[in-house]
Amino acid sequence: MSEATSSKDSPLPRENADQQRQGGCYGKTKSLFLFNNLGRVSNLKNIMSENSVKILLIEDDPAEARLLQEVLKSFNLQLFSLVHVNRLQTALEKLECDYFDVILLDLTLPDSQGLASVETIVKQAPNLPIVVLTNTNDDNLAIEAVRRGAQDYLIKRKINVDVLVRSLQYAIERQRSSELLREANENLVNQIKKKTDELIKAREIDRLKSELVSMFSHDFRSPLTTVLSCAELLQNKGHLLTEEKKVHLFDLLRGASKNMAQLLDEVLLVGRADSGTLECNLSPLDLELLCRQIVEELQIVADKKQIKINFISQGKCPESVWDESLLRHILSNLLSNAIKYSPDHSRVQFELIAEEKQVVFRIQDWGIGIPKADIPHLFEPFHRASNVNRIPGTGLGLSIVKSCVETHQGDIKLESEVGVGSIVTVTIPLKHSHK
Ligand SMILES: Nc1ncnc2c1ncn2[C@@H]1O[C@H](COP(=O)(O)OP(=O)(O)OP(=O)(O)O)[C@@H](O)[C@H]1O
Ligand SMILES: [Mg+2]
Repeated sequence: MSEATSSKDSPLPRENADQQRQGGCYGKTKSLFLFNNLGRVSNLKNIMSENSVKILLIEDDPAEARLLQEVLKSFNLQLFSLVHVNRLQTALEKLECDYFDVILLDLTLPDSQGLASVETIVKQAPNLPIVVLTNTNDDNLAIEAVRRGAQDYLIKRKINVDVLVRSLQYAIERQRSSELLREANENLVNQIKKKTDELIKAREIDRLKSELVSMFSHDFRSPLTTVLSCAELLQNKGHLLTEEKKVHLFDLLRGASKNMAQLLDEVLLVGRADSGTLECNLSPLDLELLCRQIVEELQIVADKKQIKINFISQGKCPESVWDESLLRHILSNLLSNAIKYSPDHSRVQFELIAEEKQVVFRIQDWGIGIPKADIPHLFEPFHRASNVNRIPGTGLGLSIVKSCVETHQGDIKLESEVGVGSIVTVTIPLKHSHK
């Protein structure tokens, strides 16, 4: 393996070689300057005394290599800096650590034949112009080389100074233009992608809005009907009703109003989470006490199914600040689900685990479980699993929980198996008041 360097091998900064590999624009100013001034050699001498066009010649025939050097010398060797290698592998190693403006590539090398060499080089240095050197007047081979990434081709026997210099100029300029074109194209693709993403998001928001409207009107209708019929009964037949019946109607009225208020609350929360305006208002809180209060409230619901909520608190909760409202949404939604999707007479386990830097809430039930296919979608608004049958729900709870957990910079994990049960684990990092 031989490696020859003709003319002084002006060392270029390492970042140029890196830039070349990464597809950056290399040597633009230099090559433009040189070739726009072709023919005005005296001018070029001044310009090129500092900068020369660096050529990597990959040619295994020493006679051919010498000939090319002679041709360049006859133009003005100082304008060019030529590094000669005789194998493709050596060229690849050179490209790894050095910067070049253009490659002159012989297509018959000892370690690579024909167009494969072009492809290998294009792969390693996609933005480096290549001029292919062919032995015979094989237009087809040359055109195929250009198709695969070479900028130009030269037939060895026909090389003279004009042909060579013009070809080098052409290769560098063409590569530069295609690089600019590629950049413009990439910008265009990015812009299209950005616009498409915006469109998809807008469409998603539209879909969400219409789902919200239909859900909202559907879920509002039933408590509204209750309110209207109770009010009508009390107004028209109030004098005929017993005190007990009246109390019952007032209970129904209260329940229906509470349902509507809760629904409204949830929809507003989803809207705020969606628009990114959900806030975290932190204040010191007795976490265990809050959990016990929520358990007490939900035990009333659980009692209707003879379900026992078993609350366990592990470790001492360190001092920290919390958003009570977000925590209430998280815990009451998760406990409601555990109760709602469990059979009568079963149990729900709720653990509060205080750790050094975080608090873990773990809610486990032995209910209907969730089919595997539904699990990835459960945090999307309105998604309900295929096995809910007639169990009522809007499918908003878990999406609210997720938004609240994220607003508190926490994490949520859901594990479930149909017929076995579900475990939801929420982890929230401790925060300290800066007051
Ligand atoms: N503990 C659980 N056991 C079984 N399925 C569950 C459980 N928790 C959630 N799911 C499934 O996840 C779906 C989404 O839950 P989510 O809480 O978001 O909505 P929902 O309970 O249907 O209605 P709501 O908005 O009233 O809470 C449920 O419809 C149900 O299919
Ligand atoms: Mg729910």
